[in-house]
Order: sequence, then structure tokens, then C-alpha cells
Amino acid sequence: MKKILVTGGAGFIGSHTVVELQQRGYEVFIVDNLSNSNPDVIDNIAKITDIKPVFGKVDVAVKDELFGFLKQHPGIESVIHFAASKAVGESVEQPLKYYRNNINGLINVLEAMKEFGIKNLVFSSSCTVYGQPEKLPVTENSPIQPALSPYGNTKQINEEIIHDFIAVNKGINSICLRYFNPIGAHPSGLIGELPIGVPANLIPYITQTAAGIRECLSVFGNDYNTPDGTPIRDYIDIVDLANAHIAAINRMEQGKQKSALEFFNVGTGNGLTVLQLISAFEKATGVKLNYKIVGRRAGDIEKVWANTDLANKELGWKAQVPIEETLRNAWRWQQKLAK
Ligand code: UFG
Repeated sequence: MKKILVTGGAGFIGSHTVVELQQRGYEVFIVDNLSNSNPDVIDNIAKITDIKPVFGKVDVAVKDELFGFLKQHPGIESVIHFAASKAVGESVEQPLKYYRNNINGLINVLEAMKEFGIKNLVFSSSCTVYGQPEKLPVTENSPIQPALSPYGNTKQINEEIIHDFIAVNKGINSICLRYFNPIGAHPSGLIGELPIGVPANLIPYITQTAAGIRECLSVFGNDYNTPDGTPIRDYIDIVDLANAHIAAINRMEQGKQKSALEFFNVGTGNGLTVLQLISAFEKATGVKLNYKIVGRRAGDIEKVWANTDLANKELGWKAQVPIEETLRNAWRWQQKLAK
């Protein structure tokens, strides 16, 4: 059985990826400091797959903790590195937290790869590296734009660190997946997103409003240059996104890479405005949403969606889950959380 380390494996994207890995026969080792997740997630993964992953409460930004865990669990061949801080607004308020967690965390993971002979790395990157692209849909060759937040900057710096590391470490491979907007929840209703406090992202705000936890969704601006004036994003189902990681790991294991470091967009290839997403949610769930248009949110880009040709062709991966199903899964998860 192939052994794989998943940092941040108790988080939203991490937990869904662990499920898909286990269902394909990988032996999964999770490290997570539970700063933004809950230990119940590990039990719920086990409920879905009938296999309890090995779990260590480890902060990857603390080298001794990570190395201590890996000494106890030899023979790991690949790592998927999710563990990072990810709130754009918070990163503006607390930049050092972001630089410490996201930069130190990656450096420790890379040092661990050398020390423990781990050959393959999948890294969680973001479409934020493209800023507001001039040409849409955005391809992997689009220019990297100056970061709009410390969070975005850490993703750019992380990609650069991986680039420099791979250049001088023969035999180590990496794929950076640039995620668009991950949404939804597992169809089992057992795992999903756990926003703490008032959600910053659109979907948890929508589902909490629909559940009556929030009074009204604020739509941030309807004066953008888009068909209905609200911003466009590429919303990717969480299980589809998890499966992109499986495709990336398989590609490296099978030696199919064109070069030791590759980048892929992970989106659907379709853009939706905020109002289109709201109406898809209402249609999918039958729940009427209370919303109002307010002013723009600082730092929002107008529109971005992915060209996914490269991922389709090279990874053999394509988003499959229809948006209505994704939204129904998100709603089912919200209803379960509210209980
Ligand atoms: N929005 C609202 N009301 C809300 C929340 C969001 O109208 O209460 C709108 C935003 O203005 C935006 C869209 O919904 O137009 C999506 O916003 P999200 O906050 O859900 O997602 P973002 O596209 O802003 O951010 C996401 C990730 C970041 C990543 C960024 C890259 O959360 O980690 O994409 O573009 F950096």
C-alpha cells in the first residue's frame, strides 16, 4: 500500500482528498494542528471509508513536530501540502501570521522531503496568483500579477520556493494546483466546510442565510463590467477538486510529468456571477434567499475563470459535478451543522 502524507488533512479540501485517497487504496497519514478544523473530521472520514487515517496533531510550521511525526512513520513516498492559513482579510490584519505559517510550513515540508526520501509533492496554490487577468479564461501561462494580499503573496512566494528547490533536487517532483473557488461538501453529508465565526466566503454565507443564522446576504457590488454587474468566479466542486489531487499524484508516481515542476488550473472552465450562483442555489434547493446589493468589497477582482485544457489533457481530469448538485450538497451539510 502506498503511503502518503497529507498536511492539513482535517481541513475542508484536505478531508475530501483523504477520502478519495483512501478509497483508492492509499495509506494516509494526516498532520494538522486543528487551528481551523475539528478532530471529529477524522472520525467522519473513517465513517465514509471504513478506514481510520493515521493522525498527528502537528504544526507543520514547527520543524521538530513534523520531523518527529515522520520518524515514527517511515516509508512515505508522497506529500500533499494543504496546511496553511487562508483568509485574505485576516492576512492583511496579521501579515506575520501568514508569512510564518505559510512560508515556514512549506520550508519544513521541503526539508522533510529531503530528509525522509519523500519524492512527490502536490502543493495547494491558488488562482489568486493571476490577480485580474487581462485575457479570460486564464491559462497557466498568464502572467503572475503583484499580490493583492499577504495571503496571495505567500502563495506566489511558495511557488517560487518550490521552483528553486526542485531545480537542485533531482528525483523530487512537484505539481502546483491553482485552485479556483472550491465549494460544496461530501455527498455523504459527513464532511464539509467549517467556517468559524461570520463567513467571509460566499457559499457558507449563502447557506447560513438560507438556514436563518444570518439575516441577509450582502452582495458586494453590482456595477462591475459583467452581464449582471456582479463579479464572476469559477466555482469548483470539492470532490472534483479532491480528485484533481489524485490525478496529480498518479501522474508523478507514473513518471508522466513533462518536467519536474508543473502547474495546473483546477476549475470548471465556467464562470458564474454572484447573482447567477444565488439563483442556482434557489433552484437547486427550493429555498428563497434573502439578499441585498451593497457596495463593493475592497480588493475583489472583477472576473476570473479557468481555462482547464491543460489539466484535462495532461492530468486526464475534468470537473464533473453539476453546480446544482454541488449546491445541494453544501445545503445538506449546512442543515446538518445547524442540528
Ligand atoms: N461575495 C458576496 N458576499 C459575501 C461574500 C462574497 O457578494 O458575503 C462575493 C465576492 O464579492 C466575490 C464572490 O462572492 O465576488 C466570491 O467571494 P469569496 O469570498 O467566496 O471568494 P473570493 O473569490 O474572493 O476568494 C477566493 C478564495 C481566496 C482566493 C481567491 C482568489 O477564498 O482564498 O478566491 O481569487 F485567494
